[in-house]
Amino acid sequence: MSPEIIIPDSVIQKLKTARHVTVLTGAGISAESGVPTFREAQTGLWAKYDPQELATPQAFRRNPKLVWDWYSWRRELVRQAKPNPGHFALAKLANLVPKLTLITQNVDGLHQQAGSKNVICLHGNITETKCYTNSHFVESWPDGEDVPPKCPMCGSLLRPNVVWFGENLPGDALSTAVQASQTCDIFFSIGTSGLVHPAALLPMYAIENGALLVELNPQPTQLTHYAHELLTGAAGELLPLLVERAFDS
Ligand code: OAD
Repeated sequence: MSPEIIIPDSVIQKLKTARHVTVLTGAGISAESGVPTFREAQTGLWAKYDPQELATPQAFRRNPKLVWDWYSWRRELVRQAKPNPGHFALAKLANLVPKLTLITQNVDGLHQQAGSKNVICLHGNITETKCYTNSHFVESWPDGEDVPPKCPMCGSLLRPNVVWFGENLPGDALSTAVQASQTCDIFFSIGTSGLVHPAALLPMYAIENGALLVELNPQPTQLTHYAHELLTGAAGELLPLLVERAFDS
């Protein structure tokens, strides 16, 4: 463990007494599982690929094969990834506090694999597939020449169940996330650059309603200025330590 890791006592005390903890995670929590983030200068996906060519409905209509193939590559990366100590610490934390709401922007399913329940997935799940026209969920499709394959129910093209730029977030997930942000005592923003709306507004709702806002990130973000407390470092190191300090006495 790096000796310079500091967890402010105010965070530990608040966590110990909180009735409702809300957590928002982004790509950074899965970085230590080998899943690339989006906006980091050298390694982020959007440093190498253009989201307008890959992650919009227009891109899919223009070139469905390109988009399908790119998501198939990402799906394979995710399939090989395993949850890291950061994911496991959040799953453990849920059993130690009266209420924990876990909201993620990630589509990799690693929180669920680590044992977290009722995860609010704002941006969908890359391991799920649905059809473009009718959102029929499909678990398998005939092997064939069609790329993307076609929906066995309606014949429309299949696509990943992720939210693309310009699409609405799942309404139920968003309203539950907003409510959990407005009613928590402590809000953790973990491994997200805070650049994508509406997820980026959730910490603001938490502050407006009197919660302690804690940011966990190795780098400053858009949110840093608003955070009451900063935990500077990697989620896979800091989260187990935080849970241990607050609850293993
Ligand atoms: P970003 O790539 O924008 O930000 C990742 C953040 O994780 C950065 O602030 C990093 O500093 C931080 N980070 C890196 N390694 C970390 C570690 N080990 N522990 C903790 N933090 C670490 O990713 P998001 O904020 O998740 O949307 O991006 C939001 C959305 O933009 C994504 O959900 C995706 C993307 O376009 C869709 O696909 C709809």
